[in-house]
Amino acid sequence: PLPRDLEGRRVVVSAGGTAEPLDPVRTLGNRSSGRQGYALARVAAQRGADVTLVAGTIADLDPPAAVDVRRVQTTREMREAVLDAAKAADVVVMAAAVADFRPTDLATAKIKKGDGEPTSVPLTRNPDILRDLVAQDVPGRLVVGFAAETGDEHSSVLDLGRAKLERKGCDLLVVNAVGAGRAFEMEDNEGWLLGADGTSEPLPMGSKAALSARVWDAVAQRLR
Ligand code: C5P
Repeated sequence: PLPRDLEGRRVVVSAGGTAEPLDPVRTLGNRSSGRQGYALARVAAQRGADVTLVAGTIADLDPPAAVDVRRVQTTREMREAVLDAAKAADVVVMAAAVADFRPTDLATAKIKKGDGEPTSVPLTRNPDILRDLVAQDVPGRLVVGFAAETGDEHSSVLDLGRAKLERKGCDLLVVNAVGAGRAFEMEDNEGWLLGADGTSEPLPMGSKAALSARVWDAVAQRLR
């Protein structure tokens, strides 16, 4: 039996990617199945939380039982839905892979092949929802971010995660090691869970539900 340690807690989870329209038939978006966010929402509800799931573009997933699902498409729509639900939340988990840029202009008719076709698309930076959430500065509310990192020749995935946690100002950050067949579209996930208090714990390769359980354990401990 799962612990009921989130009973009475209000939780907001973002999931999936966002898609930014370029014309009536094309979008610019991020690859994300939404599986990790859906697993987080499902496990939180099973542990007694009152859950709002803000879902962007996702794979064909069953909605989790007893969860209020709000569907959005663009980053700005996701921002509105998350910031609104977050006002009354105890915990916000940003598991969505948000499109950081959108086409500056939205063509009202389909862009055609042929003469005058665009060879580049001007982009505008989208708002960073996680930063705006942290800036709301709601006392006692926990904010959990996700970061997908590959590491590079200078920094490990863990170092990049620690720097991102500090830059974004969230309370917890889940760092996923991605690339080479890991994480995207997969059933399994692995990484580290970093705390603003300096803690770091490995999240061993396992199901997205198992990773969710570890995240909620850390959250429940900090809510007490
Ligand atoms: O900076 P980066 O996109 O790697 O940060 C990832 C974290 O920030 C995730 O929790 C993601 O949901 C969140 N994010 C956001 N708004 C953006 C970009 C990322 O909330 N525009």
